[in-house]
Amino acid sequence: MTSKIVFIKGDGIGPEVIDPALSVIEALHPGIELIEAYIGSEAVTRAGGPFPGETIDLIDEAGVCLLGAVLSSIDDPDPREDPGDMKAVPPAQRSPLLRLRRELDLYANIRPVRRPGSVQGSEVIDLVIVRENTEGLYSGIEREVQGGVVTERRITEEASRRICRTAFEVARSRISPAGAGVVCVHKANVLLSDRLFLDIFRQTAAEEADIASTSLYVDNAAMQLVLDPARFDVVLAPNMYGDILSDLAAGLIGGLGAVPSANVGADHALFEPVHGAAPDIAGNGIANPTAAMLSAAMLLDHIGIDGGDAIRRAVDEVYTNGNTTPDADGTASTASFTDQVLTALKGDN
Ligand code: NAD
Ligand code: IPM
Ligand code: MN
Repeated sequence: MTSKIVFIKGDGIGPEVIDPALSVIEALHPGIELIEAYIGSEAVTRAGGPFPGETIDLIDEAGVCLLGAVLSSIDDPDPREDPGDMKAVPPAQRSPLLRLRRELDLYANIRPVRRPGSVQGSEVIDLVIVRENTEGLYSGIEREVQGGVVTERRITEEASRRICRTAFEVARSRISPAGAGVVCVHKANVLLSDRLFLDIFRQTAAEEADIASTSLYVDNAAMQLVLDPARFDVVLAPNMYGDILSDLAAGLIGGLGAVPSANVGADHALFEPVHGAAPDIAGNGIANPTAAMLSAAMLLDHIGIDGGDAIRRAVDEVYTNGNTTPDADGTASTASFTDQVLTALKGDN
């Protein structure tokens, strides 16, 4: 298995949370090769463009990448007004992060939501959002028409089938005392594309009958998540619903600072916090590095080297007995929180 990890710090709090995550990896595996790469604004400065081929080559070779956060294209010129060859390039095609997910075909976005330190039990929020990561409203197929813009929502059988399969695999890999299984969220009462997604889900569910499964309209699912989040185990969603429900679920456990993710394809995987660049707190030294550390734990699990459980235990320990960052109701700085996790890791050995 690989012992090389590519990392991209990115923008805003990206570097502030990736440095702690790297320090945790290095504490566990001193000899591991960590290779820095760039996308987004940093890549424009260093490599002359937001999406250097070298970055893809490095990830291609290592197979895995840990990423902080990158600002997305809202600050770019409006593609409808942009002169030159960027004209009419939709934001979803421009965003370096979305390009990375698409070009590496990282089709499964896996987002475990649990407040660190929470003790197993029937009332505890411990769910995973499994989000389709390559199509839907993120297909990047948009065009101007008379008096407006059309965005295509492309949903294919093939992409739906592989993400449905992943949702059941994730459910099978978890110990779910409630046996809640997979809940597919959709809006098949309105969208033909979601009817296809739901059909494929039902076919898959019939083949994976040992795992409980059901479906909910996404609007109802949002309410049920708020009212009774503990009843959920795996939430399977097309791309945009999965994005929105991820932040909603993060809110249920105290915010985005503790929600990690994996973007997994057949040959590569990218690990990143669910949160973004958080410009409102960037530079203040108070960003919560938990999501980045737990993403690093998922990365170690993925490449088959030990340490993932140790990181999760250490973070749990600090959430239970230590001082967290302000977003998690503590008063610790990023640096002090990181020191506590490193100390807990040492004590764990
Ligand atoms: P955001 O996730 O950056 O922040 C949302 C809120 O959560 C903010 O109040 C922020 O302070 C808080 N927060 C997020 N991470 C935190 C952490 N680790 N510790 C403490 N508080 C934290 O979302 P946004 O403000 O809507 O987006 C900001 C920028 O990031 C945008 O350009 C957006 O496109 C981009 N973004 C990037 C990614 C990514 O790279 N994966 C993900 C989401 C958003
Ligand atoms: C996420 C982010 C991205 C998304 C943005 C930054 C393009 O919100 O990873 O959840 O919408 O997928
Ligand atoms: Mn998001």
